[in-house]
Parts: sequence; C-alpha cells; structure tokens
Amino acid sequence: MERDIKIAPSILSADFAAMGAAVRKLEECGADLIHCDVMDGSFVQRITFGSQMVEAIKKHTSLPLDVHLMCVQPENKLEDFVKAGADILTVHVEACGEKLPGVLKKIKDYGVRCCVSVSPDTPIESVLGSLEMVDMLLIMSVYPGLGGQKFLERVLPKAETARKFFDSHGLNTDIEIDGGINEENIARAVNAGVNVIVAGNTIFKAPDMAKTIADLKKAGMSR
Ligand code: DX5
Ligand code: ZN
Repeated sequence: MERDIKIAPSILSADFAAMGAAVRKLEECGADLIHCDVMDGSFVQRITFGSQMVEAIKKHTSLPLDVHLMCVQPENKLEDFVKAGADILTVHVEACGEKLPGVLKKIKDYGVRCCVSVSPDTPIESVLGSLEMVDMLLIMSVYPGLGGQKFLERVLPKAETARKFFDSHGLNTDIEIDGGINEENIARAVNAGVNVIVAGNTIFKAPDMAKTIADLKKAGMSR
C-alpha cells in the first residue's frame, strides 16, 4: 500500500538560541511534523529541554509537535507536555517496561496521539502486545541521546515485522524511523515499511533546506 512519506525534522540539530525561527523555517520548507527530542539526563546522558520549549515553539508553527520523550518515568511527565501543546507523545518501552500499556492509555486519555519507541537493541517482540493501541511506532536507528550518529541498518527488519503486523490487523499505523537518515538510506527504510522520517543533521546541515526536504520525500517514494 502506498503511504505518504512524512518528514519530521529533529530540532535537536537546530540553533537553540533561535528555535522559533528554526521551526518557522522548517514549516516554510515543507516539513510535515516537528520532532522534539526531550532528553532528561537519566534515560540518556544528555539534557536538552522540557515542556517549556514545546510551549514556546507551539506559537511559531501550525505543524504537529512530535514529542520524543527520552525520559525515565515518562508517565509522570505527560500532563506537562500535553498542556504545552504536544500532538504526539512518544515513550520508550525501555523506560516503561510492563507499565507500557497503562502509559499509552494515559496518553490517549489526554486526547493526544500515542507512540512507543524501541531502541536499537530492543526486540520488536517487546512492543507487539501494544501495537494495536498506538497511533505510531518509532524505531530508533541510532542509540538514543545524540544527533549526527551513523544509521544502523540492522533495525530495518523490525519495521518489516511491524508493518506485517499492522497490515494483518487492517491497521494503517504510522511507522517512524529516527537517527542517521539521509538521501542514501531513506529508500531502504521506506521499503521496510517506514513512512515517517526523522532527520536532524541531514536537514539542518543542508545548504538548501527546502530542497533537502523535497529530495528526502522523493527518495523515499522511489523504491
Ligand atoms: C537521538 C534523537 C534523534 C536525533 C536524530 O536521540 O532521538 O531524533 O536527533 O538526529 P540525526 O538525524 O542527526 O541522527
Ligand atoms: Zn528523536
């Protein structure tokens, strides 16, 4: 089944001193979502920003805010991000464990789209039990915590397994990939069943952001 490829630039690679301008530019250049990498310094080494940044950028774009919570105990942080204007909230199965179904339900009860993420070494089987309730699945193609890492091709079979699951259940659920994506590897990710693409460095390092976003979409369709 043909699916539109959606591009979700990660603001982790943006100029943090000019984030409003960065998200305005991303929208002008054809982005479909804004990927917001929240890092708490516990689940991952780095600390980036909290719900106040999400609230601040909400005023500068009409694009959906795709909030990637790389946090421990994300269930305690959901309300802040909902109030801040998150449109999608992603939690890591590695941070939730058997609490995952309850955390995902809590996100849905807020009326926000819910997404679960699996890190590179986490088997897709760890989330199969929750795939019927999510609005999106995020497959990490780098270890969470840093932008600009090398794409880990070995995670693609997880996308194939998940896409087969969704198709066999008659679900058109989005599959998002995050980390190291560029024009060279995007088609293989889309071929594996991915339809939402996070890209930080590839987009923010580009001399022509609009052209790169358009090229990523084209490269994704050419499979
Ligand atoms: C890493 C983040 C990714 C990262 C993507 O922990 O979740 O979103 O910023 O950046 P690139 O595309 O530069 O790998
Ligand atoms: Zn991310």
